[in-house]
This record gives sequence, structure tokens and C-alpha cells, in this order.
Amino acid sequence: MTEKKGTYYITTPIYYPSSNLHIGHTYCTVMADAMARFKRLSGYDVHFLTGTDEHGQKIQTIAQEAGMSPQEYVDNVVDGIKKLWKTMEISNDDFIRTTEERHVHRVQKMFMRMYEKGDIYKGEYEGLYCTPCESFWTESQLVNGCCPDCGRPVQPAKEEAYFFKLSKYAPALLELFETNPDFLQPDSRRNEMVAFINQGLEDLCVSRSTFDWGIPVPVDEKHVIYVWLDALTNYITALGWPDDDEMYQKYWPADVHLVGKEIVRFHSIIWPAMLMSAELPLPKQVRGHGWLLLEGGKMSKSKGNVVDPVKLIDRYGIDALKYFLLREYTFGQDGIFTNEVMLKRMNYDLANDLGNLVSRTVSMIEKYCGGYIPGPAKEEDAEGTDADLKAIATGAADKVEAQMDKFMFNMALEEIWVLVRRANKYVDENTPWLLAKDPEKKERLDAVMHNLAESLRIVSILIYPFMHSTSKEIRKQLGIWYADVAWEDAFTFDMLEGDQVKKGNPIFPRLDIEAEIKELEAMNKPAEEPNIPLKLKDPIEYDVFDKIDFRVGTVLKCEKHPKADKLLVFQIKMGTERRQIVSGVADSYEPEDLIGKKVVVVANLKPRMLRGVESNGMLMFADNVVDGKERFEYITTVADDGNPVT
Ligand code: MSP
Repeated sequence: MTEKKGTYYITTPIYYPSSNLHIGHTYCTVMADAMARFKRLSGYDVHFLTGTDEHGQKIQTIAQEAGMSPQEYVDNVVDGIKKLWKTMEISNDDFIRTTEERHVHRVQKMFMRMYEKGDIYKGEYEGLYCTPCESFWTESQLVNGCCPDCGRPVQPAKEEAYFFKLSKYAPALLELFETNPDFLQPDSRRNEMVAFINQGLEDLCVSRSTFDWGIPVPVDEKHVIYVWLDALTNYITALGWPDDDEMYQKYWPADVHLVGKEIVRFHSIIWPAMLMSAELPLPKQVRGHGWLLLEGGKMSKSKGNVVDPVKLIDRYGIDALKYFLLREYTFGQDGIFTNEVMLKRMNYDLANDLGNLVSRTVSMIEKYCGGYIPGPAKEEDAEGTDADLKAIATGAADKVEAQMDKFMFNMALEEIWVLVRRANKYVDENTPWLLAKDPEKKERLDAVMHNLAESLRIVSILIYPFMHSTSKEIRKQLGIWYADVAWEDAFTFDMLEGDQVKKGNPIFPRLDIEAEIKELEAMNKPAEEPNIPLKLKDPIEYDVFDKIDFRVGTVLKCEKHPKADKLLVFQIKMGTERRQIVSGVADSYEPEDLIGKKVVVVANLKPRMLRGVESNGMLMFADNVVDGKERFEYITTVADDGNPVT
């Protein structure tokens, strides 16, 4: 039995259940799982937490668009996320949802701890407000000066809100980074954070009152708690803090929060400051990983270019996908995902190297040794290949551990593959098929078979944290399925004798890379949008159209029609001329938003009276259907005022 080394608490970020997760999210959870399994195997009492971050305006809006309540919406997506982790055999010990009661009341307690400390105060939040979206934005978030969500103009506005005195903690945070360089890794991230703090930390707005999908502020129920304060607290609410704190006492502070690079700031500045305010211990470490990108840039659901892990698992299996993710990418750096890179890894490392070693070792033991693993040789071989193989095999576990301590999953796997490749070379060096032809060499043949079986046994232990099903399959084929996988057994050679091997199917079938790429591309092609002709008015002849005189005008003035709700009265300037035009677009625009805008004018339309106001022409707005709602958009060009539109 491995001796217990203490506790180890590891967390992933809690994912937004705004839509199904893609391979980028999977990457983070797979790393956390490998680390959790590695620590368990090497003797730690591990607690591994993941979950979902379910509150906030974004979720509320998406749910509304889907015609569901936010709770219904998240329940549905969270079901899918839980299924995904189950399919991927993720070994999390708990799954926290921020809508669970155990979380909600504890977040309120956290808020109150900070409030009672005097670190949360009521103030005014000033920003740029988009009325239809009920959202505040900062200048830098705007797209072309407009709301990044709906594209409409924003206005400066203020609202009452609660603020956390984040600025007060700047000196303590700088001290933390300086005295404890391990707190945030890799080093490059720490330098970024120190620079960020040195620019000056502002107090953080920790409440919202423009939407209600969140945890109410205990002292003021008109407000909900800012989603990041809510979400970050999950790491302790899931442990029962503060009212049921046995687990909290056992596992807090966390050994590591594993997070993507864009949320390092929340975890290494806001979260520690919150904990300092609440007078609670800080996590021991935050580790920021890079992103998986596609050749065209970031994966995003809206661009329709996400890679679905479930499709890859269905086709290649869980272990092949996990191996690829952990072996291919370097922790802390971004990496590009391509089907070709993935398939090559699976073919070369898994089918060729590991798969081949398993199948030839088991086949040869069946063929040359009657199916039973021979005991160790009495003497070593003259060429020294045994000594070399044994040294690499029994030295690998320490090397794997050293790489895992640095979160270098790819290098840890590379250390294991040094052994796999050495064992394959050992077969070629010792040519068992020739030894088998000479009865006098039977002893040597047995020794070679024994050493290969031993090497595979050690490989089966080393790969367990990364590919536990493959480890079990190898142990089944070696006939040692009954023995527990124990890390300390990876340091010892010569443990096997007399176990009966049993050949199975190839553990990783060889892939036809070109054919697979075609198959994957076909699978990922978005379904073509149906092309349904619009219902239009009867066609007109060109000479009718040619009679229309289009000009570009600038809106000088725009007011509501005194007698008709749907009409707006415009004063338009076209070159040298000004004129009044009435248009029925009051439902789509606030008059002040149109001032200064350019618009196409049908300038030779006969004048007519509209509810008592004269209209001299027509402004060109087009019918458009946005988000299922009909709305008008104005048409304009870059031409100068008054020039004909070409
Ligand atoms: N809900 C917050 C986290 C709160 S933690 C208290 C959040 N959620 S998220 O769903 O947007 O992202 C969760 C994690 O997935 C982040 O660490 C993010 O970096 C990671 N990834 C999302 N896309 C990714 C890639 N393409 N590649 C690697 N990781 C990626 O942020």
C-alpha cells in the first residue's frame, strides 16, 4: 500500500453553461484529471472539484432568446456537461453548480464578511449604458462606438452599486507575488499581473441591479452579487465553508487552481483580495494554461468553428484523445489544433510505439513461452542491453514525477515514451525469433521475454494517470489484472513470474490519416443554410426604376410626429437643399439617434401630406428581420451629400 502523503485539492474553473463545451474546455479538465489521478496514485488524499458558473446577464439573455427561464436553460446545458465528463471518465470528486442552495447562501456569507469588514461600500457605477440590452459598457468594450451586443448607440449613465475596496489590497498583493513566486505560475503570467497592479487597481463593482439572474445582495435585495464574486467563492462553498466546514478544514487552502490564461487576473488578484478581506487563507497556487486555437484563430461557437470532443471520442476513444491533448501541447503556451497533428500523434505514439510493443510482447510470450511470463534471468546479457532497459524502466517514475511537479504533462509522457521506444529497440537488438530457433538459447529467450513483460508492467503503471483504461487493458493482456496499480511498483524490476498472458485486440488500431482527415472534415462541415426565396412584390421594368432620383441626405433634425406614433418628421440636407420628409420608422429609432446620420432619399417623389405634415420625398429604410423581430435599418453610402448614388 502506498504511504499517504497528505491532502491535495485541485480545481478547474467552473464553466459557463451558455452552450455545450468544446475541446478547449476539455483540455483544461483533462489536465486537472491527469494531475488528480497522478496525485492519488502517488499517495495523496485528493479532492478534485469542477462545476458550472450559472448566473449573470449573459445567461439570462441567452435563456430569454431560447424562450426558457434561466434555470431551465442552465439545467439543460449542465446535464450535457456532466454527461461529457462522465463519458470522458473524469474523476472529479464533486461538481458544484452556482445555482445550488449550498453555494447561494455561502456566497451571501462571503459578501457579508467583506461588507462587515468595511471593504464593501455603496457608490455609483458610471459607464456607457445600452438601454435595450440593459448593460453597462466601458469605452474599450464598445464596437464602433456602439453596444458590442446589439450594435445600438450607448449613453453615459450612472447607477447605484456596491464596490469592493480592491485598491486597498494592492500592496498586499504585490507582496504576495514578490515573497511567494510560486503563487502564480508560469512566471510570465506573474510579471503580467505585477504590471497590472502597478498601473493602479480600481475598486471593483460587485453588484448589479439591471438584471436579476444572480444571488441577491443580503443587505439590499434590489441588487444581485457580481458574477465573478459569486463564481470564485465556489472553491470554498463546495467544501462547506463556513457552516459545514469539515471538508474545508481538511482541504483548504487549495493546492492549485488550474485556469486558462484570460482568467488568471480574476484568480490571482480578485480572489486573493477577497480572501484577504474575509481573513481566510489563500490558495497555494494558481496555474495559468494557454489556449487551444484553430488555424484561423480562436474557437468560438458563434463562428461555428468549435471542435466537438464527443465526436473525436466516438471515433478514436477517450484515451487516444486524452493522450493527444496532454502530449501535444506545452502547459502555459497556446497551441494549434489540427486533425492532422492529432491523427499523427495517435498513429505514431499510440498505434506504432505502444500498441506494437504490447502486441508483439504478448504474442511472443504466447508463442515462445507457452503463454506464461518467465522469471528473471540468472545472468545479464553480454551486450548490456538488459542493464540499459532496466535502468530506464526503473528510473522513469522519478522523471515523470519531476515533470508532473512542473505541470509538464507533455514531458512526463515523453519520459514514459523513452521507455516504450527503448523496449521496442530491445526487441530488435535481441531478435527473439532467432533465439527461438536455437534450443540452447532458450534461457536467453526467456530472459528477454521476462524483461519485456516487466517493462510493459512498469509502463502500465506510469500511464495510469493519463490513460487508465489502456493501463488496465495492458495489465489484462499481461495477466496481472488482479493486482492493484501501485506507484512504488514502478521502481522495481523482476516482479513477474508465471502469470498467464492473453492476447487481445490491438489497443490502438492504425489509422489511415488521409482518409480520416476527409472523414473529419465531412463530419464538421456546417449544414448548408437552406436557400428559400423571399416573398416580394411584382417585378418592375428597368425604365420604371430609372425614373427614381436617389440622393444622399444628412439628417439635420428628427422629431416625433405630433399626431402619429409611428411617424418621425425629418429635416434633411441634400447638397444645397434642405427639405422636410416624414417617415414611418418611429418604432425602430429614437429620433436623437438619427441626427447626423446619412440616408438615401427618393428625392423626386411627389409631395404628400401625412397626418397634417408635408412630406417631400422618401427616406430609404429597409425591412430587416433581426433576432426574429422586424426592424428597419437605414441605407446609406459613403458618397457626399446630394450626389447621386451609383
Ligand atoms: N465561468 C468562468 C470561470 C469562473 S471560475 C471561478 C469562465 N468560464 S468559461 O467557460 O468561459 O471558460 C472556462 C475555462 O475554459 C477557462 O479557463 C478558459 O480559459 C477555458 N477555455 C475556453 N476556451 C479554451 C480554449 N480554446 N483553449 C483552452 N482553454 C479554453 O471563464
